[in-house]
This record gives sequence, structure tokens and C-alpha cells, in this order.
Amino acid sequence: MARRPAHRLLSDFDAYERRLWAGRADAYGRGFALLTAYTAEPLLDAVAAGPGTALLDVGTGPGTVAVAALRRGAAVTAVDADPGMAGAAARAAPSLDVRVAALPRLPFPDAAFDAVTGNFVINHVGDPPAAMAELHRVLRPGGRLALTCWRLPPTGGLAVTREAIDRAGVAWPDDVPPPVFTPHGEPAAFAALLAAAGFAGPAVTELDWAHHTDPEHWWENVSAAGVGAAGVVISRQDPAATGRIRREYDRLMAAYATDPGRVALPMHALLAAGGRYSRADEGGGPVASGL
Ligand SMILES: C[S@@+](CC[C@H](N)C(=O)[O-])C[C@H]1O[C@@H](n2cnc3c(N)ncnc32)[C@H](O)[C@@H]1O
Repeated sequence: MARRPAHRLLSDFDAYERRLWAGRADAYGRGFALLTAYTAEPLLDAVAAGPGTALLDVGTGPGTVAVAALRRGAAVTAVDADPGMAGAAARAAPSLDVRVAALPRLPFPDAAFDAVTGNFVINHVGDPPAAMAELHRVLRPGGRLALTCWRLPPTGGLAVTREAIDRAGVAWPDDVPPPVFTPHGEPAAFAALLAAAGFAGPAVTELDWAHHTDPEHWWENVSAAGVGAAGVVISRQDPAATGRIRREYDRLMAAYATDPGRVALPMHALLAAGGRYSRADEGGGPVASGL
């Protein structure tokens, strides 16, 4: 039987995700990364990152969490599935060990890290349980994991662009799939995902905040820049449809206006943390949660 080329081994969702992020690193860094930066310190607190912690940041994007961990004195390795994102992370911190690698396969031996973080990446993998198993494998016994995801389905500021598309009467294309993470995007289900992968003491914290931005800047660097699924859909439209979406976007954004040219977008995320059982307890009782 003929061997299938490597890219055929990706699920349709993972293949779609690779296309979603390709070429988007610069726009992501100017726009969406300013939003996701909010959860960097809570993630690092949840794994107790400090001087000497061997920390892996998965789906690092432009390296926000990785750089914050370096500032704490951690020894940081970062991976991203997209070479452009990995390049941006490497430029952000020359001392960072950055690799191009994708969940659910990481190029590290078992038990290589004291701590693993992932800021809004688990909601982008095609097979979340397989990804969790891999994160468990690379964590040392007694080590800690912390992941964020959006509360799903998206609400508040995260829903504006998609809602503008719908209100403008633009059909959602069949080849842009719904997020596979939706069933896990609420606290009990997210905690259950960690527990099912063998993590001890899984705990989920809800993080709610307002992202202050300029709607024009958000449109330029997120919505119209092809960042995220709704951004991809907008980037495919002709000028007339784009104009209709933009008008709806402006109407929706007006509800969040604070000052002229400023909005406060409500954001709702989940932070899940858990520990790997210590060797003595593997298969037995939980390690101290550390939270
Ligand atoms: C929403 S961005 C988050 C980036 C970054 N963690 C942050 O704090 O802004 C999702 C990132 O996950 C990466 N990604 C998507 N699927 C991945 C996978 N299976 N394995 C590793 N990285 C992946 C994307 O390339 C993208 O950089």
C-alpha cells in the first residue's frame, strides 16, 4: 500500500488550523496577542513558575507567556505549530528555546518539564484528549499544568465579529469548521478533560475582564486581518459584503464604547490547572494542588 504524505495524517480540523494561522503572526502580535496577554501571569502563577522552573509553553504564538516566564527566571522551551508564530517568539526573546511542533506530538522525552502552560491553544487542537495525554507525558511526576480556553460558545467581545457576519447576511462557509473544543468550554467539562488524562486535583477558575481597545485597530489587526475563524471569513469577502459586515461591526461595537474611539470588550475565559501525580502516588492519591 502506498504511504500517505505526512500532511494527510493531520485531521481535517488540524489541517484547517494550520491554514488558519499561516502568515498571521504579525497581525496577531499587533492585535489579538494584546488580549491574550491578560492571562499570562495567572497561568504562570497556577504552575508556580519561578527561578529554575523547567517550563514548556505550548502554542506559544508570539511568545507572550514564554517571555513572562523567562522574566521569572524559568528555563523556558516554547513550541508552536506555525513556523511564523515560532519565528515571532524567537525574535521576542533570543534566549528562548523555540521549536516548531504540534500537539498531539511533542519532540520531548517523557517527564521533561516541571511545568507546562498553554494559553488559548487547547481550544485549537483537533483531538483534545490526545493533546492532554501528550501534555501529561512530558510533565514530570509532581509537575504542574495550566491551560486557558475561551468560555464556549463565545460571548461578549469575542462574539462581535461573528455576529457582524451573521447580521450582514453572509453565509458561513462549509470549510470553516466550528471549534471542536465547544463541549469542553465550560468549567466542569474542562476539569473533567484534565481528570480523564490523569491529572490530579484539576481546578478551573473563571477569568472575566474587559479588553480596552480601539475598534478601528481591532478591525484592522483582527477582524479584517484574517485572524481567527471570523477573520478568515471576512478576508474572503468582496468589498460590498465587507462593507456590510463593517457597518454591523460598528453598530455592535458601539454598545461597548467608553470614550470616542475606545471600547471595553467583555471577555470570558477559563483557566484549568492540575498536577501530575508524584511517582509514589501514581495511580494513588493526588499531589498537593499548589493552588
Ligand atoms: C490563539 S493563539 C495563542 C497564542 C499564544 N499562546 C498567546 O498567548 O497569544 C493559538 C496558537 O496555537 C497554535 N496552535 C494551533 N494548533 C496547535 C497545535 N496542535 N499544536 C501547537 N500549537 C498549535 C497556533 O499556531 C497559534 O499560535
